[in-house]
Amino acid sequence: MSVTKAVVPVAGLGTRFLPATKATPKEMLPVVDKPAIQYVVEEAVAAGLDDVLFVTGRSKRPLEDHFDRNVELEAALRAKSDHTRLAKVAAATDLARIHYVRQGDPLGLGHAVLMSAQHVGNEPFAVLLGDDLIDPRDPVLAEMIALRERHGGSVLCLMEVPREHIHLYGCAAVTEADDHVVVTDLIEKPAEEDAPSNLAIIGRYVLDPAVFDILRETPPGRGGEIQLTDALVRLAQLPADQGGGVRGVVFTGRRYDTGDRLSYLQAVIRLALDRDDLGPPLREWLVDYLDSGNDT
Ligand code: UTP
Repeated sequence: MSVTKAVVPVAGLGTRFLPATKATPKEMLPVVDKPAIQYVVEEAVAAGLDDVLFVTGRSKRPLEDHFDRNVELEAALRAKSDHTRLAKVAAATDLARIHYVRQGDPLGLGHAVLMSAQHVGNEPFAVLLGDDLIDPRDPVLAEMIALRERHGGSVLCLMEVPREHIHLYGCAAVTEADDHVVVTDLIEKPAEEDAPSNLAIIGRYVLDPAVFDILRETPPGRGGEIQLTDALVRLAQLPADQGGGVRGVVFTGRRYDTGDRLSYLQAVIRLALDRDDLGPPLREWLVDYLDSGNDT
């Protein structure tokens, strides 16, 4: 069965970006001139997934409004014959079939994914974390879906990180296969000395629906939250004919954590430099600024 649905959890509190995220979801922070979340939905659509379920929570209204029509704004732009901006406004609405489910209490990423069970049903599905931005020049989701179609089971996106940063991520123990890795174990945010590798799990997953039954039985783990990583460990141990097996793609492209202030700033600069309209003047200014000892 092929993958057609994307689940995008956006119910986290975004505490690393306070006070900006006190009343504005972190996923709505602009990266150049689009909210971060629009890149995520565009990535899903580019990989062939046009059914997108957001798992939302409190204060996520702006996100729902962004993907809805804004009739007054569209009428005003139409009256001015401003077709360029009209197209930009309509783009978010026309991207995909968008659905919402509320998480209520943010009890962890595993709990957020479980909220999607009814919508997803008994199909493999993708999970894209709303604050993880994969540079559109380095797509990876289609490769992950192809791996699932070849081998069944679930597929993670792994990225080598400096060992001293591994405590910030879920970490995978793996064995090498031809063009991918087989995941044998996972540890959520291990201390550097306990980490079995420097392969971090980043926010893209293709999951077998067997994950739902496992999540229903997964007790709160690290930080009192229901951890998706704990359920993935169980999936890795499950026989293939029961939906088990976890593989990984090792991603070497550009990726930003837009919930982290430094990574967010890097995303804005890198993506702006790539733009025809903003790139050349921004590059010129940046060079002058740095050359002048940050004094222009
Ligand atoms: P984070 O670990 O980044 O947590 O969640 P957070 O609360 O969003 O942000 P900080 O750490 O306080 O700054 C990873 C992803 O899982 C979602 C978040 O929205 C984010 O996309 N999430 C997390 C949920 O949807 N529900 C939860 O209960 C927890």
